[in-house]
Amino acid sequence: MIKVGPMKLYVRTFGCQMNVHDSNRIVEMMQGEGYQSTTDVKEADLVVINTCSIREKAHHKGISEIGRLCKRVKRNKPDCVMVVAGCVSEQEGARIFKLAPQVDLVVGPDQIAQLPRWVRDARQDGRIAMTGFDRGTRADFLSTADRATPRGVSEFLTVSKGCEERCTYCIVPSVRGPERFRHPDDIIEEAVLLTENGVQELVLLGQKVNAYHYDGLTFAGLLERLDQLPGLQRLRFTSPHPRHMSPSLIESFGRLRTLCESIHLPVQSGADGTLARMGRRYTAGDYREVIGGLRRACPEILISTDLIVGFPGETEAEFEQTIGLLEEVRFCGAFSFKFSPRPGTAAANLPDDVTEADKARRLEIVHNVIERVEREIRHDLVGKRFEVLVTGSGRNAGQLTGRARNNQIINFQPAKGATLNQAPGSLHQVEVTGVMPHSLEGIPVADEAQSG
Ligand code: 5AD
Ligand code: SF4
Repeated sequence: MIKVGPMKLYVRTFGCQMNVHDSNRIVEMMQGEGYQSTTDVKEADLVVINTCSIREKAHHKGISEIGRLCKRVKRNKPDCVMVVAGCVSEQEGARIFKLAPQVDLVVGPDQIAQLPRWVRDARQDGRIAMTGFDRGTRADFLSTADRATPRGVSEFLTVSKGCEERCTYCIVPSVRGPERFRHPDDIIEEAVLLTENGVQELVLLGQKVNAYHYDGLTFAGLLERLDQLPGLQRLRFTSPHPRHMSPSLIESFGRLRTLCESIHLPVQSGADGTLARMGRRYTAGDYREVIGGLRRACPEILISTDLIVGFPGETEAEFEQTIGLLEEVRFCGAFSFKFSPRPGTAAANLPDDVTEADKARRLEIVHNVIERVEREIRHDLVGKRFEVLVTGSGRNAGQLTGRARNNQIINFQPAKGATLNQAPGSLHQVEVTGVMPHSLEGIPVADEAQSG
């Protein structure tokens, strides 16, 4: 049968923002090759499953999704090319063909830039596994040169890749490779392209984003350069490491026009003993100092975090110290996980000695504290005014949704008869009137959008 019309691409993404960004670029690259995106896997000619292996659960989820999609797709369309991309590919390589014989192509994160070529090769020659890391030359970052693709209000921008911090629990160094920093001119060039295409908010991406440096330019210096872009409204970054929160970076909050009043700063544990075994190279006291500095520089900042419970050797007393830190720092949200031993990491060789029951109990306690504190913080926002950057329509008819600079989602209803600029990307002053489970409700305090 001769195919008419464009080839269709279906992408399924697991894992972090890095993977979301890589998937966006996969779509963009393959559109350049004539593919069209689809949300219906059954009509796809190319399926990409972008996997994550940060914890065992994520890894298994990816593997079972590969099996499920292969079955669904190959039965009806045997010539559909099945691609497994991302961190599981890097870790497993050609072993994936044994786990899922219908997979055609395995590509590690650093091979994604060559994806169009590997897809063509796989269509012609059958199975290939491409893994390994590039050297981080100017061409190796997944940047966009594409002015045609419509952009969202907020876009990711890669500043570095890989990680050499070697936290003892973390698989990232082995699946994302050594740390490589991107040339600042290339970062600025991409930022200009994006903002000229209507992007209002940039989220800088890097495994240890604030360790960025290039020929004497620090991360704080990079933020300062980006802050001067006239089209840019908001700047965020993820994920920083507490050890690399320099004084100049801390005082950039509250000083730089675009740098938002929110930060996700993974702490992992509140106990010095656990932090030492994790190889985090800071103490709970160091972390508290960074938080103090951030709050002095920018009193309205909201801080979220990541936590691991049940790390090898974590005693009840150490766990209590983590709870103490949560009560003291008052995070507005946290992702918390049970320790999961990952192959090839130093912690996988430590006795995984906290029982499953203790891990589950500790996780629940952490959840409860985080949820309560977050709720209290969000209730304190009622009656306050925030600038909301509209990203789309809210759930109720006529409602708009967007984010405040502190990263809270705010839904609001334009007043009856008001001529409000409803376009994504418009900015509005909104007063918070209520708290919903995952968002805030508000009313616009001025009829006209400020700009947009
Ligand atoms: N076990 C549990 N959680 C982990 N994380 C990373 N590696 C592991 C692991 N082996 C968590 C950390 C990190 C987040 C992205 O995932 O909290 O910040
Ligand atoms: Fe998952 Fe880490 Fe890979 Fe992101 S970098 S996809 S979190 S393993």
